[in-house]
Amino acid sequence: MRINIIGAGLAGLSAAITLAENGVKSNLISSMQSERAQSVMAEGGINACLNTMGEDDTVENHIEDTMRGGVYLADNKAVRGLCENAPEIVKEFYKLGVPFQTNENGIVQRNFGGQKKKRTAFVKSSTGKMLMTALIDAVRRYEIEGVIKRYPHHVLQQLHIRDNKCQGVTVNDNYTGESVTFGGSVILASGGMNGLFSGLTTGTTQNTADVTAMCLENGVELANLEFVQYHPTTISIPGKRLLISEAARGEGGRLFVVKNGKPWYFMEEKYPELKNLMPRDVVSAEMVAVTSMPECEDQVYLDMTGLDKSVWKSRLSDLQEQVLHYLALDPAKKPVPVSPGIHYFMGGIWVDTEHRTSAQNLYAAGECACQYHGANRLGGNSLLGAVYGGKVAARTAMKESAPDKQTERKNVQPYTEASPAFRDSVSQILGNHLRILRSENDLNQALAELDLLQNKAANPAEIRLLALAKAMVNGALYRKESRGAHRRTDYPVINPDCQKQTIVKNTKVFYREINQL
Ligand code: FUM
Repeated sequence: MRINIIGAGLAGLSAAITLAENGVKSNLISSMQSERAQSVMAEGGINACLNTMGEDDTVENHIEDTMRGGVYLADNKAVRGLCENAPEIVKEFYKLGVPFQTNENGIVQRNFGGQKKKRTAFVKSSTGKMLMTALIDAVRRYEIEGVIKRYPHHVLQQLHIRDNKCQGVTVNDNYTGESVTFGGSVILASGGMNGLFSGLTTGTTQNTADVTAMCLENGVELANLEFVQYHPTTISIPGKRLLISEAARGEGGRLFVVKNGKPWYFMEEKYPELKNLMPRDVVSAEMVAVTSMPECEDQVYLDMTGLDKSVWKSRLSDLQEQVLHYLALDPAKKPVPVSPGIHYFMGGIWVDTEHRTSAQNLYAAGECACQYHGANRLGGNSLLGAVYGGKVAARTAMKESAPDKQTERKNVQPYTEASPAFRDSVSQILGNHLRILRSENDLNQALAELDLLQNKAANPAEIRLLALAKAMVNGALYRKESRGAHRRTDYPVINPDCQKQTIVKNTKVFYREINQL
């Protein structure tokens, strides 16, 4: 038996290692090598209740913060599993050699958004890169033994689903143009839908959204697509948004806007408990609100000038280098102009608590899957969700996959992808209308503009990308309330009747109850 994994970021690597530890072989298939995966770009840290900071932190606190941050739209049972397993996961990484900052009490943890305790373990602001380095190294051992077979530079061409059962995949070798078909179960770990928002996200557009679009095309259910996370502190640079890690605020950075000629630290005044570290949906919406006030200027700044030299040196040196490089500005000396940018997709391929999708023998983990984060993800929970989700998906796939006749056929099949120009058109429409604040008018306008693109969709990849874009807008239209990252000006408050997942299957949208255990 060999299980096929699509994606070699943190979730894919974690799944492959879990399978290998249990003697199960896998094909690790990815459009880029692991070193270029989105997970490498994750900065601020990974959450786990290690209770090393003398704050009496508990796993229950982590669960409560995650549920509240997700505005009670996450699956409670799944979140419990995530938070209970987090301490062991971080300790495993430490044993693998990840150089987390430590002191005499163990691993040091920093403040992060939406959490009432210091719970985020970190390596300066390069945590994702360090976790990936550790797992890439762990995978190599199994590669040499032939347990894990890597297929970098291969993209998913076809998901073979018949009678709602996944039979395998055909992938295309980017270098030779050859197509390869593998039978067997499939774990999708293909990342977030950045490719629907070209140039507008902090994430890599190598995460094209094509896999999620293929799921939709094959009748696999998607969930909560309307929840698109805007990270409050990003900077526009050519071709993308640059992330200024939440760690900056975790270490004492403060947001202000100039009001009547003076700096106004609006988050501190409005939210005296968590201040600048309110969950991202709240901070981003407040930034929109204050910059719309007539007495305020239209730019928010992140003020890190009060941070200690030692903090810059030991905790934020890479962030300082980035800002210097891209803005020619030293953030230790001058406030940095920031604005919200698309950073994460809470929605995606629907999975149950064991990471099964709605199709048999098809599993999903990491950002491509809708699990753990509800209506808004807490910083530091994405790396955790990817690692833990990869493990759970692997264990489930392993239990449920029968030894099969593993087929590996090679041939050349026509392979097409969405053109950059088509992708840009879709991105422009979504970027214009699926903003932090949206209304029925905006969303209908988005649908009308997407409809106009229909005739221009020249190949199957463009047709399914368009279908996914419409599914996202339809999800947003269906949810008639404001919750987490979905804020409607025409339905400005939470509606308790909508405490459900929005499911999209083909062109249908409906609600599904969630585990409230
Ligand atoms: O701001 C950050 O460092 C982002 C972290 C995350 O999204 O988990």
